[in-house]
Amino acid sequence: MGALNLVPASFADYRRLAERRLPRTLFDYADGGAVEEVTLRENVADFEALRLRQRVLRDVSQIDTGIELFGEKLAMPLILAPVGLGGMYAPRAEVQAKRAADAAGIRQCLSTLSICSLEEVSRETGTPPWFQLYMLKDRGVVKAMLEHAWELGVRKLFFTVDLNVLGARYRDVRNGMSGDTGLWGKLRSGVIDYAFHPRWLWQVGVRGRPHDFGNVTRFIPRTSMQNYRTWVGQQVDSSVTWKDIEWLRGEWKGTLVLKGILDPEDAKQGIASGADGLVVSNHGARQLDGVSSTAAMLPRVADATSGAKPLLVDGGVRNGQDLVKALALGASAALIGRPWVFAVAAQGEAGVTRMLRQYRDDMHNALGLTGYVRAVEVDGGALDRG
Ligand code: FNR
Repeated sequence: MGALNLVPASFADYRRLAERRLPRTLFDYADGGAVEEVTLRENVADFEALRLRQRVLRDVSQIDTGIELFGEKLAMPLILAPVGLGGMYAPRAEVQAKRAADAAGIRQCLSTLSICSLEEVSRETGTPPWFQLYMLKDRGVVKAMLEHAWELGVRKLFFTVDLNVLGARYRDVRNGMSGDTGLWGKLRSGVIDYAFHPRWLWQVGVRGRPHDFGNVTRFIPRTSMQNYRTWVGQQVDSSVTWKDIEWLRGEWKGTLVLKGILDPEDAKQGIASGADGLVVSNHGARQLDGVSSTAAMLPRVADATSGAKPLLVDGGVRNGQDLVKALALGASAALIGRPWVFAVAAQGEAGVTRMLRQYRDDMHNALGLTGYVRAVEVDGGALDRG
């Protein structure tokens, strides 16, 4: 976006605005992926590389981008993905994003590790979001969170299964945010970077009160970033298996969606374990670099599960055209992570609202020009396979 362009339109525009506003460590934490970021690039490139078919002279005067998902109506097949520490990117960012999602008629899935708690988001916006949970070593904490979410009215649980070990993100290492940082690393990531961003420091760091960690605060002895990191590190459970999913299925009476399935064999097992839906995801390429993109894996997973349950997808979905492509590959809906984080960092709720309007307009346009009236009718025929 050039100096004279006032209104962001594309993902790249919001990303650039966010980069200007945010401390480098925070920008990189969201923007970066695992190791050499090969999969990160491919998540985006593989959606971009798909070609749509232009079909004309069909009556497309009554386009409907809406879908029904898990018994709820959505104005378009899009969900705001769970993003840990979201509230570091704008003041009470998860509340702002939820307001924008509500206004756009779509849903937000709140991270276990959000800055704003489920309680706050529900109270401030009038309805509970969908909720994402990790399997933590302390099953007592997991049970407490499930009960708490249920009491608040949450009925859709996204259970993330691709964080059984922590991915290595080189940008975080370079910025002194993870790994063996030493004193300089601590200063660099904890003090100097922030001091150079006084606007962020005042608006988010002070007025935005990102000092506690929403849903997990009550389980951490004394809330500080250091204690939070230690706690998260201790709670990552590498021993999780399908047996734990069966346990969870017994505990959770609502809709259970497994997030982080990439392989067709795992997808089949996921359905067999009683999940109500799957998210084909590689965690936004933040975990294992070198795995295939989600655009590449989605059709294979769709084939393996033959439409048994709703399939969702995330990773690299950057506009409304990508939504049509995702549907054409067999998804019922897509999630976006970085797009909403950069939009909220750039312009708060108004930014997310504007961005969502653009997704909807672009999808409307893509449906009209591929000759589809209703989003739910999109099939493989929307793609030009040469
Ligand atoms: C994530 N993601 C994520 N997933 C999850 O289940 N729980 C979480 O707490 C987080 N935290 C998180 C933080 C940040 C900074 C990012 C960028 C991502 C993954 C997220 O839900 C989603 O799968 C990806 O972001 C999708 O890829 P795109 O849309 O960012 O390309």
